[in-house]
Amino acid sequence: MTAILPHGGTLVQRVVEGDERDKLLQTAKELKSLTISSWAISDLDLIGVGAFSPLTGFLNEEDYKSVVSRMRLADGTVWSIPITLAVDEADAASLAIGDKVALIGEDGITYGLIDVESIYQVDQSEEARNVFKTDDQEHPGVKKLFEKSSTYVGGPIQVLNRPKPAKFEEFYFTPSETRQIFADKGWRTVVGFQTRNPVHRAHEYIQKSAMEIVDGLFLNPLVGETKSDDVPANVRMKSYLVLLENYYPKDRAFLGVFPAAMRYAGPREAIFHAMVRKNYGCTHFIVGRDHAGVGDYYGTYEAQQIFSNFTADELGISPLFFEHSFFCTTCGNMASSKTCPHPKEDHMTLSGTKVRGLLREGVCPPPEFTRPEVAQVLIEGMKEHVNS
Ligand code: ADX
Repeated sequence: MTAILPHGGTLVQRVVEGDERDKLLQTAKELKSLTISSWAISDLDLIGVGAFSPLTGFLNEEDYKSVVSRMRLADGTVWSIPITLAVDEADAASLAIGDKVALIGEDGITYGLIDVESIYQVDQSEEARNVFKTDDQEHPGVKKLFEKSSTYVGGPIQVLNRPKPAKFEEFYFTPSETRQIFADKGWRTVVGFQTRNPVHRAHEYIQKSAMEIVDGLFLNPLVGETKSDDVPANVRMKSYLVLLENYYPKDRAFLGVFPAAMRYAGPREAIFHAMVRKNYGCTHFIVGRDHAGVGDYYGTYEAQQIFSNFTADELGISPLFFEHSFFCTTCGNMASSKTCPHPKEDHMTLSGTKVRGLLREGVCPPPEFTRPEVAQVLIEGMKEHVNS
């Protein structure tokens, strides 16, 4: 069985192991070093395991400019989100092109090395306007961007230590592992589902609609950094497990996490999410309403429309677009405007803020919105989270 090709054709593998790793860790002690944030460690690791194939490192200036202005790497490969290493100006001043530099976490662990290929200054407002379609610092992605230095260092990396998950370690897989798992299951077609939320009935509906036409579902929640009012990943993980246990056929759905930070870049992030899921071995990818959006920054279907900028060959993964879905009280089932003729008043829709409010008060949202088992886990999880 031939698996779907990774983005760019080759699955990048830059995690160094064995004697070579020991040697490099030894060498690293003598090298210049940079202290990097947990966000940068997560990007470093995802590059290392090939989730961000074809990237082999943090973007150099040429690729950065090309990604920001035209959603492509300099060689033309589709890439929509700049994966960059921001470095304090003073630190950058001590580096030179050609240096090999140790990348060290705040915990003192040497996570990797970078071969400095490029040191460059960026215009963050321009980056924000291109990537996020706004430079409003109320936007959580823009805010994060402006908190970082505007001096970037680019070049190929090597990973020497992988970040250790505090919890749910058994759900962390590299792209080569998920590819093997899908092959072992005999899945020829796999739909990837990105989420930063608990799986509510609308999510379940679009996943299951997709499952009707593919062999398996890869439920791939993002568990890296999210904004503080999103439901914490550990609580969400428990809710995914209880949902899968009760409502999904065991041999048709597979849970594995995506340990990346959430950018909230809407349309551009949808493209990025799709490319990454291709690397994990998905053939299809779900894009619903306001994918990776926040507030009112993006149109409801902008994250779907952006795909028309690229050919099917360039994308290499089939996006599956879904309309805004809801429970219709007259139909008595989940639906969207494509399948339901009834007026808005018949449709149950609750905003994320409203649902989080109910859960915090210990109130179960209606079962037409969230499965009761899931709501229970969320209520308990939120309580523990508040008290922890
Ligand atoms: S995201 O930021 O990770 O995209 P979320 O977890 O809310 O947010 O959504 C996961 C996926 O489900 C996205 O593709 C999103 O577009 C889709 N989605 C969420 N809610 C709905 C809905 N009510 N109808 C259709 N699609 C939805």
